[in-house]
Amino acid sequence: MSRFSEPPDPAFDEINRSLDVDRRLWPYDVRQSRAHVRMLAAREIIPAADADAILAALDTVHAELAGDRFPFEESDEDIHMAIERRVTELAGPAGARMHTGRSRNDQVATDLVLYTREAAAETVLRIEGLMGALLEAAREGTGVTLPGYTHLQRAQPVFLAHHLLAYFWMLGRDRERFRFVEAQCSVLPLGAGALAGVNFDTNRRMVAEELGFEAVAPNSLDAVSNRDFVLDYISAAATCATHLSRLGAELVLWSSQEFGFVELPDAWTSGSSLMPQKKNPDAAELLRAKAPRVAGDLASLHGVIHALPLAYNKDLQEDKEYLFDAADTLALSLAAAQGMIEGATFDAERMAEAAADEMIAATDLADLLVTRGVPFREAHAAIAGLVRVATDSGRTLSELSDEELLAQSEHLDGQARELLRRESWTASKVSEGGTSPDRVAEQLEAAARLLG
Ligand code: ARG
Repeated sequence: MSRFSEPPDPAFDEINRSLDVDRRLWPYDVRQSRAHVRMLAAREIIPAADADAILAALDTVHAELAGDRFPFEESDEDIHMAIERRVTELAGPAGARMHTGRSRNDQVATDLVLYTREAAAETVLRIEGLMGALLEAAREGTGVTLPGYTHLQRAQPVFLAHHLLAYFWMLGRDRERFRFVEAQCSVLPLGAGALAGVNFDTNRRMVAEELGFEAVAPNSLDAVSNRDFVLDYISAAATCATHLSRLGAELVLWSSQEFGFVELPDAWTSGSSLMPQKKNPDAAELLRAKAPRVAGDLASLHGVIHALPLAYNKDLQEDKEYLFDAADTLALSLAAAQGMIEGATFDAERMAEAAADEMIAATDLADLLVTRGVPFREAHAAIAGLVRVATDSGRTLSELSDEELLAQSEHLDGQARELLRRESWTASKVSEGGTSPDRVAEQLEAAARLLG
């Protein structure tokens, strides 16, 4: 018997069904059903023979889904209903006992937390893959200098290793965020029932243990309506994707003829259908463009959850599209970033040439005056004057005469000329975390230790 006298409107069916999105939750759904049924039998809530029949049917369902030959039907609304229908077909009347003491509300929350826990663990591995590639490229780039930029204007020279390691540390923080997500996925929702708990003396801890949870959710209402772990995953993903967009943007700039700092591997670039000379950094451009999409997933899910009354509401069905999209987008972006860094050829000469721009030593000259007792603001003005004289006359700083130097400050003597030698610019950045060779070597060691 059904409570309804009319069949669903086709459009209702379309808006209501989620099978196309949630079918990928099947491994978690089968896993939780096994644990649930074993517990029901252990507590004598269902007969042991029925549990055996259900478990055998679940094995078949598992094989069918893994082999892509599961007989889905038009009427299957979501993956949970499809699996239950099939188990009942295979196990006969025993199958109808599988859903005892369970609601789709605690069931879907459990599938989702299992999925998110695995996705977070996989993301950690992917991040580590990229961190390893950056560390390797940094090791190879220890002696190579390039201009560091602010406002995309040449600012001060840095080592390539130093520049690449900046991304390494960003990704290290991302890794921490995904470890936090994993920790947020250690509480079992199953056993909450629809919202209030169930009318059977279940053993939630037994289920938690089988499924690898550390605890059971202490409040059934919270258990079925909690999607914080999804927000946490997408939030971490949005930050990580934003980091990758910055890396992508730099690879686009650096691989342009104007910069010429890097050549990207053929495997991660494309040609032009019209212009035979082109090698386009498509994947790096897409790292830029994919990031806002993940941020959009986060904003959308906040929109879905905000102001929802307790406990389960069908709105929550929409959580999966954003979660899967964020996880898939980030996985691809991380793979692309790793592939590009592993195959990148950095042009040390082009970089060194750009970093040889003497104007880049202006701060060092100002700091020399500071060591001679000149207040920094006055020193800054004196060197700005010097830069102006050089620029106005189309000369470099070292082409200025001793008189021209001394005219700006009595302290601009022979030692100032020494400072215009390139090696001194990086060697002098001795503060912790700075770009002097010793500090960069120290940083490389710390990075290797962090990656373990
Ligand atoms: N497909 C649903 C979802 O993803 C499963 C839960 C349905 N629960 C319900 N009470 N209708 O949220």
